[in-house]
Amino acid sequence: MIRARIIGTGSYVPEKVLTNADLEKMVETSDEWITARTGIRERHIAADKEYTSDLATKAAQNALDMAGVKAEEIDYLVVGTITGDYPWPATACIVQSNLGAVNAGAVDVSAACSGFVYALAAASDRIQAGHAKKALVIGAETLSRIIDWEDRNTCILFGDGAGAVVLEAQEGEAGILSTHLHADGTQLELLYQPGFATRILPSIEALKERPNFLYMQGNEVFKVAVRSLTEVANIALKANQMKVEDIDLFIPHQANIRILEATAKRLKLRSEQVYINVDRFGNTSGATIPLALDEVNRAGKLKAGDILLLDAFGGGFTWAAAMVRW
Ligand code: ACO
Repeated sequence: MIRARIIGTGSYVPEKVLTNADLEKMVETSDEWITARTGIRERHIAADKEYTSDLATKAAQNALDMAGVKAEEIDYLVVGTITGDYPWPATACIVQSNLGAVNAGAVDVSAACSGFVYALAAASDRIQAGHAKKALVIGAETLSRIIDWEDRNTCILFGDGAGAVVLEAQEGEAGILSTHLHADGTQLELLYQPGFATRILPSIEALKERPNFLYMQGNEVFKVAVRSLTEVANIALKANQMKVEDIDLFIPHQANIRILEATAKRLKLRSEQVYINVDRFGNTSGATIPLALDEVNRAGKLKAGDILLLDAFGGGFTWAAAMVRW
């Protein structure tokens, strides 16, 4: 059976680190509050002229280098992002040009924090259908650009970063085993950016309402996130006739430590099965899962045959899982 196999991973985070101590000087908060409520200690923030496409390009190049694949060999390039360089065209087209991936079709996927898993599903399906041989899947965000740095409810949570994987069509048991995508648009306003797309156009008048920032009702999002992450993880296990014990590594979207711990508890995962790096990067939305995957891979912690469950939840709402055999 032809599967999409991950043959290289890469990631990139901007140089600048913003600590909880730095945030204490910006809004009324404390390191103690942030650490206890979110588990986040620091996050990376893009430089003034550093854009999502720059982060994505660096992560993608790292993944290509690890895979030993040239950019021209890629025939499909997908970026999961909600903080693209432009409203349109796709940031994927900028990355395609930066890399010289001249033979790749390029498109963005907008599924907020589930963006990478949605993008992975799109590329995996295309490979399994025989329409692509090698694909580049990227999750990249500069959330810092849509955060209200005066709002302590949200500004402490997010960071910038990118992660990428190279997929190759291979015969065998290893690769993406299944993907599971879900959405519920009925509660969209619990987590969204009200403007400036085409509903609320940019104007001096509109700017007074600050619609260009991320808006979130944290308490409500928390509950739905835990429920949805648990639900889709169980769906993925059932589809593959697996049990929780079969998972070697659970890589959830790194939203905050309490969501991760509550989800792990509901799934009855042991702490060694759960990968956590939210303390160092915060919530980088669509980038958290590929960033974490690259960290474990580069640390040499993955061995052939390992079962990985990628589990995401984000604005939309969207939620998604991917079962992977390494
Ligand atoms: N520092 C100090 N106090 C704060 C801060 C802060 N940074 N932020 C809020 N508070 C205060 C509030 O004002 C409130 O004070 P009040 O009781 O006087 O009104 C108090 O702390 C409690 O606020 P809550 O919002 O109830 O705090 P909660 O325990 O729910 O924690 C948090 C807030 C961390 C945002 C939590 O709701 C959460 O993690 N939600 C999920 C958010 C998330 O991860 N979203 C992303 C998932 S999807 C995606 O990745 C896009």
